[in-house]
Amino acid sequence: MMREIRFGIIGCGLMGREFASAAARWLHLTDTRAKPRIVAVCDTNPALMGWYAEHLGPMQQTTDYRELLANPEVDAVYCAVPHVLHAELYPAILAAGKHLLGEKPFGMDAAQNATIMAAIAAHPNLIVRCSSEMPFYPGAQRVIDFVKSGSIGPILEVEAAFLHSSDINPQKPLNWKRMASVNGEYGCMGDLGMHVLHVPLRLGWRPETVTASLVKRVPTRPDGKGGTLPCDTWDNATITATVPHADGAFPMVLKTWRIAPGEANTWSIRVLGMNGSAYFSTKQPRQWQFMRYTAGGPQAWATEDLGYTPLFPAITGGIFEFGFTDAIQQMWAAFIDELAGGDAHGFPCASPQEASAHHAVLTAALQAGKTGQSVKVAYA
Ligand SMILES: NC(=O)c1ccc[n+]([C@@H]2O[C@H](COP(=O)([O-])OP(=O)(O)OC[C@H]3O[C@@H](n4cnc5c(N)ncnc54)[C@H](O)[C@@H]3O)[C@@H](O)[C@H]2O)c1
Repeated sequence: MMREIRFGIIGCGLMGREFASAAARWLHLTDTRAKPRIVAVCDTNPALMGWYAEHLGPMQQTTDYRELLANPEVDAVYCAVPHVLHAELYPAILAAGKHLLGEKPFGMDAAQNATIMAAIAAHPNLIVRCSSEMPFYPGAQRVIDFVKSGSIGPILEVEAAFLHSSDINPQKPLNWKRMASVNGEYGCMGDLGMHVLHVPLRLGWRPETVTASLVKRVPTRPDGKGGTLPCDTWDNATITATVPHADGAFPMVLKTWRIAPGEANTWSIRVLGMNGSAYFSTKQPRQWQFMRYTAGGPQAWATEDLGYTPLFPAITGGIFEFGFTDAIQQMWAAFIDELAGGDAHGFPCASPQEASAHHAVLTAALQAGKTGQSVKVAYA
């Protein structure tokens, strides 16, 4: 029998369901050290919990996370709750002795992130990772490998973007993600910043200074009950960072946009260098593009169809497409591999240190955007 790791889920909304689905089709993966079993769920909205038990079998259901954390059957927790709650819940999860995959952004601002980081430091025996699934696309992995192989040469520019567009509709009702008091003042940067910074930080590209253009286009939204409420978060942020590097400092553009016309959920990374360049976008999920250049030679981008070639092998034939739900499952495979003593096939989920560094960048970007100044990033 394969080893089971027993999970509790706190926050049974959009992302809680994605984990449940990934866990339910664990047989998709052909070579894992352990598998997750969901034994407890918690949400303050009781209506959401029945779906889990209906599909996965009897389990603890509670509206009080303390009850879930008191359950000795729970080895590890996935916590996917609104940002304002991270700094209360993540330390409580660790204090209960549970491993944690926490949703980004790991606290809604730098102060709350510091609280979480202190709790992590106090529990060095527990494995803590931050959710960020997009780099698990095969095309993203190829870009990472291309950079690591030294094929880029001196870097000209890096651009990492995560573009959404549903907020272009001013009639879209307000939800917690558009309220600074719950989502944080970062707004779109708190929602999408970990996604764009995960790969750059993993590759050692730490912004030194940033400027930022922040855009707020929809000041009020329907409250869903016939009224109108202020929508006080930033809609779009374009951060331009200067990244020090042995081959010469380079600019890095980070776009976290909630209103990018026509873009449903487009995550992309483009690295341009003197010897090589590479690009991947979830818009063309089966492909990546790259160029190798030698002095005086042709400048020709190549496009390669990758199909289904994930980090953790699966039953799907190599010619087929890879998608969002696969990226989620691969991220979970990486976390569970680490829980079971593995090395996540060389690409662990985002670390707390990476989440902390991303807070430093976003905090500087918020100040830069509000003042119009270039701001030095103060890493913890
Ligand atoms: N990795 C990704 O791609 C991705 C995508 C979307 C959201 N997220 C992150 O996931 C987290 C949750 O977002 P979501 O989209 O699932 O939100 P959601 O609103 O769909 O779900 C959050 C759930 O938390 C519940 N909740 C609120 N307070 C609670 C409490 N005290 N105890 C237990 N449950 C409580 C809510 O009732 C709700 O069901 C956020 O941190 C968000 O940034 C990540």
